[in-house]
Amino acid sequence: MPNMSFCTKMQQTSKDKESNIILALDFPFDKPENRNHLYSKAEHVLETVHPYICAVKINHHLLLPLGLFDGVQKLIRKAYDKGLMTIMDCKVNDIGSTNQVIAEYYYAAGFDALIANPFIGWEEGLKSIFDVAHKLQRGVILLVYMSHKGAFEGYGQTIYDAEESGKMPQYIAFAKKALKYKADGAVVGATYPEKIREVHAILREKIQIYAPGIGAQGGEIKAALEAGASYLIVGRTITLAENPAKSAKEIRKLAWLG
Ligand code: XMP
Repeated sequence: MPNMSFCTKMQQTSKDKESNIILALDFPFDKPENRNHLYSKAEHVLETVHPYICAVKINHHLLLPLGLFDGVQKLIRKAYDKGLMTIMDCKVNDIGSTNQVIAEYYYAAGFDALIANPFIGWEEGLKSIFDVAHKLQRGVILLVYMSHKGAFEGYGQTIYDAEESGKMPQYIAFAKKALKYKADGAVVGATYPEKIREVHAILREKIQIYAPGIGAQGGEIKAALEAGASYLIVGRTITLAENPAKSAKEIRKLAWLG
């Protein structure tokens, strides 16, 4: 799918694979000397789970022990061979010049999209990531409201938005900025379906919602989807299951409504 935007590729892949599940390929800490074993474990889960997912999301769990142009790139290539999309979730969060280098490396490794933190702002922050992404036709997904309990301290605070001349919750301002920046996706925790609903009312069909926090963090499939999430990100409920393929298959059955 060479000339399609990231969003179109995600939609097409989801349709082809009949799945809206994104696998978070996460595993607990293991001694660095065991990283070959960790790689084999990740590869095995990918090999067995791929029929039930549309994308793989990788973050520090594998990036730190396996390295970007080593084990992680091998997994990205495996994912492609299975017809899956790949997302880098180390939440880019620095000044523009550094973000540019980070984005270039992640996309050079083969990731289709990366997740970035909108707290850094546009000028000398997010802009450089979007510039690299547009040049390479890749995606940028923005955090809007995170899935963990402490998310309210940042994403949930009430702010005064100078552009809108009014008070509003931070995540509402981020949803509006996601539209303004033409982001390729927005992350809202599945643990907060009411927030998914509010954000969806702003984004409509223009930007799709990615919802992490299903299962292990307490988020529910039905509630997240009914509120407006397009994709569900699932990690430990699949990767730590006795039978990851069975777990992924069951989750897909509940989540994929065609
Ligand atoms: P579990 O095991 O809880 O894994 O299913 C969830 C995965 O998603 C990541 N995560 C997030 N990523 N915004 C993100 O961009 C979030 O709000 C968020 N919450 C969880 C987490 O690191 C893990 O890989």
